[in-house]
Parts: sequence; C-alpha cells; structure tokens
Amino acid sequence: MTQRNPVLLVTGAAGNIGRSVAVRAAASGHRLVLADHPGAVTKLDETAAACTKAGAGDIQLAPFDVTDADAVATQLAAASAALGPATLVFNNAGYQGSFTNLVDYDLADMRKVLAVNVEGVFTVLQAAARELTSAGVGGSIVNMASMAGVGGAPNMSAYSASKAAVIGLTKSAAKDLAAADIRVNAVSPGFIGPGVMWDNQVQAQASVDSIYFDDDPTVVADQMINSVPLRRYGSLEEVADTVLFLLSGQSSFLTGINIEISGGGN
Ligand SMILES: NC(=O)c1ccc[n+]([C@@H]2O[C@H](COP(=O)([O-])OP(=O)(O)OC[C@H]3O[C@@H](n4cnc5c(N)ncnc54)[C@H](O)[C@@H]3O)[C@@H](O)[C@H]2O)c1
Repeated sequence: MTQRNPVLLVTGAAGNIGRSVAVRAAASGHRLVLADHPGAVTKLDETAAACTKAGAGDIQLAPFDVTDADAVATQLAAASAALGPATLVFNNAGYQGSFTNLVDYDLADMRKVLAVNVEGVFTVLQAAARELTSAGVGGSIVNMASMAGVGGAPNMSAYSASKAAVIGLTKSAAKDLAAADIRVNAVSPGFIGPGVMWDNQVQAQASVDSIYFDDDPTVVADQMINSVPLRRYGSLEEVADTVLFLLSGQSSFLTGINIEISGGGN
C-alpha cells in the first residue's frame, strides 16, 4: 500500500453511515482515521475490522466526544503525527434527539442536539482545518446535514434546527477556507433504509400524535415513501457514493454546496 494514498477522517465511524463510507473508502485503498465517541469503541473496532477486510491501508482509531474541543484537537494531532494530516474529512457524527411536538420538547434534549450536531461539527471542522493549514495542504471536507434541515421535519424541531445550522456553517466555512484550498460541502440524506435506521424512524413518527403521520407504523412507512418522488428510500451505498464524490477530485470545483440525497423529496 503506497503511503501516498489519501488519509480520510470519518467521525461517527461506528454508526451506520460512517461505517458505510469508511468501508467503501477502504476498498479504494484510503488510509483511515476512524473516530467515534469513547463509549462506542466496540462498534468502532468492528468498523476497523470491516475496513481492514475491505483493503484499507493504515487505520488509526480516534475515540473522542465531538463536543470536547481539547480531546478533538489532541486526537487529530496524534492521528496527523501517525499518518500525516487528513486531507479528506467526513464530519458525520450526529444525535437525532427525541421525536416530540415543539410544544412539549425538552430543553435539555434541545441543548444536547445542538451541542453534538452544531458545536461538534464546528469543533471537528475547525480542528481539521487547523491541521491542514498548519501543514500547508488543501483538502476536502463533507459535513453531514439532513433533509430535516432543508424542509423542517415534523416532531424534530431541535434536529431540524441543528441540521439547518450545519448547512449555514458549510457555506460560511467554504468561503473562509477557500484561500487555503480546502473545499467544504454538505450532504442531506432524506429517508434511508432498510434496517434499524428506517424502522426506528417509522416507529418514532408513529408513536407521536401528529397531523402528518398515522399511529400505525405500516401506514407511516407508506406515507413516508409516498412523499418521495422516486417512491423509495435511499440506500447507505447511495449516501456513501455521494459523500465520496464530494471528497474526491471529481468535484474539484464544488464548494459550499449541499447535495440533497432524497429521491426528490423535501
Ligand atoms: N440515517 C438516516 O436516515 C439519516 C438521514 C439524514 C442524516 N443523517 C445523519 O447522518 C449521521 C450518521 O447517522 P447514522 O444514521 O449513521 O446514525 P448512527 O446513530 O448509526 O451514527 C451516529 C454516530 O455518531 C456518534 N456520536 C453521537 N454523538 C457523538 C459525540 N458526542 N461524539 C462522538 N461521536 C458521537 C455515535 O456514537 C454514532 O456512532 C448523523 O449526523 C445523522 O444525523 C442520518
């Protein structure tokens, strides 16, 4: 494996989408920094094993809480010392919060959603940009937003607000970092499945009393799919392909954009 293969940092690498992107990048020989919360190290190890199997070059594990700026800086500096700066970053860790009507939404949970999804994304973006600028190299960063941040999802006010903030942050950071040859873009998946992710989403919306969704999960699943022009949910592979496109040189003149991975839905 040549040392010139790029280094990709993935946060939330123990989760569904993070793992999918990491394994796909591994298959093309990327060297990887796999990051997740210290409480998720067992799943992070599983991601590392899947990446090794897929053909990854060197892998560095980086357990940190994205809201802990000191831990983020320390871990990224250690990864950079081991592999060189991560010129590719998938800033993906996130927390969905509760499914509750705005009237009843718990303020403590609202604050946690903003801490992880906004402060956390900002902190990783800033630390990664500092590593790149001090090394004097450019890069490509993809922030994880959501269609909830584009259209505003019912019963997900905190999450929708946090993901709208990620889109704003992406556009601003793209301008601040352009002179350093660092591109910053976002992706906004809509409904993604199958599996636990999709089932939980359907179950959660069915469990909240709302004018938008039935209380029968089977009906909710149909309601969701019927709101998508392409009449299906997207796959993890389709999300990974879009992220890897934005990270790659194939998107070299794109910065500050948000790609909606939603089958046309909003
Ligand atoms: N799954 C979907 O349908 C969907 C749709 C749109 C956007 N997203 C976004 O995609 C991203 C990944 O989602 P997923 O579906 O893979 O969920 P997931 O729960 O499987 O993965 C999220 C990961 O983030 C990590 N994480 C959470 N808080 C953290 C913290 N404070 N510090 C470090 N790591 C932390 C978790 O440990 C987990 O491994 C999230 O930002 C989510 O909001 C998901």
